[in-house]
Amino acid sequence: MSASYEVRGDVAVITLSNPPVNGLGHETRRAAAAGIEQAENDAAVKAIVITGAGKAFSGGADIKEFGSPKALAEPNLHSLIAVVENCSKPVVAAIHSVCMGGGLELSLGCHYRVASPGAKIALPEVKLGLLPGAGGTQRLPRALGVEPALNMIVSGEPVNSEMLAMVPGQKLFDKIIEGDLMEGALALAREVADVRPLPRVRDLKARHASPEAYFQFARNMVGGMSKNFPAPLRCLEAVAASVSMKFEDGMKAEREGFLALMQTPESKALRHAFFAERAASKIGDVPDDTPIRKIDKVAVIGAGTMGGGISMNYLNAGIPVVILETKQEALDRGVATIKKNYEAQVKKGKLKEDKYQQRMALLSTTLNYADIGSADLVIEAVFEEIGVKEAVFKQLDEVMKPGAILASNTSTLDVNKIANFTKRPQDVVGMHFFSPANVMKLLEVVRGAATAKDVLATVMQLAKKIKKTAVVSGVCDGFIGNRMIEQYSRQAGFLLDEGCSPQQVDKAAEKFGFAMGPFRMGDLAGNDIGWAIRKRRYQEKPNLNYSKSADLLCELGRYGQKTSAGWYDYQAGKRDAIPSPVVAEMLEKHRAAKGITPRQISDDEIVHRLVFALVNEAAHLLEEGIAQRASDVDMVYLTGYGFPLWRGGPMCYADTVGLFNVVQAMKKFAKNPLDDAAFWEPAPLIKRLVAEGKSFS
Ligand code: NAI
Repeated sequence: MSASYEVRGDVAVITLSNPPVNGLGHETRRAAAAGIEQAENDAAVKAIVITGAGKAFSGGADIKEFGSPKALAEPNLHSLIAVVENCSKPVVAAIHSVCMGGGLELSLGCHYRVASPGAKIALPEVKLGLLPGAGGTQRLPRALGVEPALNMIVSGEPVNSEMLAMVPGQKLFDKIIEGDLMEGALALAREVADVRPLPRVRDLKARHASPEAYFQFARNMVGGMSKNFPAPLRCLEAVAASVSMKFEDGMKAEREGFLALMQTPESKALRHAFFAERAASKIGDVPDDTPIRKIDKVAVIGAGTMGGGISMNYLNAGIPVVILETKQEALDRGVATIKKNYEAQVKKGKLKEDKYQQRMALLSTTLNYADIGSADLVIEAVFEEIGVKEAVFKQLDEVMKPGAILASNTSTLDVNKIANFTKRPQDVVGMHFFSPANVMKLLEVVRGAATAKDVLATVMQLAKKIKKTAVVSGVCDGFIGNRMIEQYSRQAGFLLDEGCSPQQVDKAAEKFGFAMGPFRMGDLAGNDIGWAIRKRRYQEKPNLNYSKSADLLCELGRYGQKTSAGWYDYQAGKRDAIPSPVVAEMLEKHRAAKGITPRQISDDEIVHRLVFALVNEAAHLLEEGIAQRASDVDMVYLTGYGFPLWRGGPMCYADTVGLFNVVQAMKKFAKNPLDDAAFWEPAPLIKRLVAEGKSFS
């Protein structure tokens, strides 16, 4: 049974029991409904308490049933809530902690609700592009008041129970119980055992003094803040219906809104991302119960751009960090940057002074390898030169205790080669953080040929602790993200050759939803980085085509924001990208030299050439086994490369367009004499999926 039933004196207690968060799956719904029926039929029972086992009242829908027929099987959530609401004996919800989504909707069907202080209350459906579909938009405004209910439903954020209990006139909680919640719930159940008629939230009125003005104001606010997401405004309209309509009609409006949102590409993308994140944490051949190595202390080698940011992640999680450098000045500079970052957070009110001090107290520095030998994990973030890495890893092999994990933050070098600098390649792994490492969510975990399973399991678990989205990549040049971005950048270059300006390409990419177009991104990262990579490619792959425009730019010393000039001009100390006449002239000359007559290129063509370049390379990565699954590629792009969340990542977007259509577009691009026909040869995986009528998902 996934809900238990017991009788305590004259009160029946139904305990939802479906770990980890008592999701309201079919079995749980059936058992809860059966419990209500049993209590109805037992003359000795005067009242009923519903509560949850373990760490939640209920987290809402059971995600294991998402999209399956079981999710809708009777009793569905509506039916269960109706059974509770229509029960002839009082039903009290006893909420000790997490009470979210369907869990909160179920409690709103109860006649009374009591909660422990600190219980987390939310209707988070909007985060999946949906609205609460089991009466939440109709009952919460009636119980809590229209304005606070709208805030909760549109934001999806949890609010503590005791805060909600302070809302004037609220009827969401009858009591906040400081001590033993069950004792308090049982006492209330006995107190109200004879109350008739029973209070029902649905019979309350959702009132607002000036609903029209309020909802118009809210529409403007919500519409402005949720441009690419239809759900928040749909949530708002459903809440407005709770004020303007009778309960049954409001429920119909809610249902219509829910069904409409289920079909939107935005909700599909958000649900895809939700499951993609969960999937990314799993590694095919590394079982969930793989033992984990204990990580109580971390060492970081190099206090530069990456080393400092990487250290902050562990300090934030309460894990002591020791940073090693070659010179005291480098250590001082690194520590000063960490301090500056924390102080900026304190200034903005995002970090309390005492927390800042606690974090700094966990940080130590050294110039001596002997001081880091006891660390459980060491992350190397020194210069990107194989000789330097070799020296560092040989030292680490000497000093680190047996069983320590040796990680490299290399962005381009061969992790297998690095592992073989040591006599313990099984303990070596790539941990590719993104800059700024204390901010960016993405962590590519690079699995070497010899990396041990427990090392992978440990690193994946630790990633959660430092709030990163970890995605496993095999060893290859650029791993998943940068190998794909190289093809995207090549297309961006061809677009310039053919007639686009950098600002036209950036604008099209940004209109599509990228946080930043390719040229603004190049200016931010430094165009010299790509230049160095291309110089290497010219040697390695002399037949590979590149636009020469980016090389010409670098030859002018225009490296980007750091030189106040790149694809754009920059005013000192500012980040605004100003279209550059120098670049325009450089491009004109470049086209003239190649005999190209510039043509007008549509935004659609720009975006599809950029995005399908990513998709085709990703298909190769999947085939080579570098990426485990298409949804992992999406997570890399959503969390590390500013791909628009409402499109679900490049692979999800390709599926939305349809792989057949993607291939048709690629065939058309291949015919363009100024593009590169070889570039647009669809990856075998894509051809196979199209032939089988399948998609990446
Ligand atoms: P950086 O130049 O800012 O910092 C490197 C630091 O390592 C310097 O402080 C230097 O003094 C120190 N160092 C050099 N040799 C050392 C040695 N033998 N022992 C101890 N310390 C030593 O470089 P950055 O940008 O932090 O890059 C570090 C690593 O992270 C590189 O492998 C890079 O490819 C990788 N990476 C860089 C990203 C970025 O955006 N900057 C992003 C992802 C990875």
